[in-house]
Amino acid sequence: MEILTDRLVIRPMRPEDTKAFASIVGDPRVMRFLGSGHALTSQEAEAYVLDCVARFRATGRSRFAVTSRNDGELLGFSGFKEIAGTIDFGYRFEFHQWGRGIATEAGNAVLRYGFDSLGFDRVWAGVVPGNQASLNVLCKLRFLPAPPPYPDEQDTVWHLLTANAFHGSGSRSIGPRPKNNL
Ligand SMILES: CC(C)(COP(=O)(O)OP(=O)(O)OC[C@H]1O[C@@H](n2cnc3c(N)ncnc32)[C@H](O)[C@@H]1OP(=O)(O)O)[C@@H](O)C(=O)NCCC(=O)NCCS
Repeated sequence: MEILTDRLVIRPMRPEDTKAFASIVGDPRVMRFLGSGHALTSQEAEAYVLDCVARFRATGRSRFAVTSRNDGELLGFSGFKEIAGTIDFGYRFEFHQWGRGIATEAGNAVLRYGFDSLGFDRVWAGVVPGNQASLNVLCKLRFLPAPPPYPDEQDTVWHLLTANAFHGSGSRSIGPRPKNNL
């Protein structure tokens, strides 16, 4: 698969992305609201990339690499992960890319791919309450607050987006329809 938007090329993660990804998630500012809140080691970053590669090969349901259309630089990821029988939508970008609308541009394209090509009828997203930038992204993507999709002992704010809401929202198609080469 490959999805083009105005500024981005979105494609499956590759093992060669490990070095650039390690630099993104090795930054504590990026990891502040995620998991343990600590920067990932390069080994943890490599394991994350390889997990994305394996998930894509197995089911096509994975986080995708979001790269610059200008020069191919890895900017972060946006995409899916199956958790407890539900489809989780997640995203993470390099610190210096924040505030340029990249998460929203990538999210719109990736969600369209998820609903139209992967056949999802709903996707969930969980956010730590203080992560206002992420809550803003979900709001711009038309997610709505919802109860947890599975028992969750964390203090997570859950959101849900259905295919109907996405398609009925008037959300703009960004770039050509994706090719699905699964
Ligand atoms: C959350 C994140 C993906 C947002 O990426 P982004 O490309 O900056 O997002 P966008 O520019 O599309 O939209 C962010 C919105 O939040 C606003 N915003 C950014 N930082 C903010 C902050 N600290 N407080 C309040 N609003 C903020 C922006 O102004 C923008 O809103 P606007 O379009 O109305 O101006 C990025 O900050 C990130 O990668 N964070 C670390 C990883 C993470 O937390 N991922 C989400 C896990 S749930």
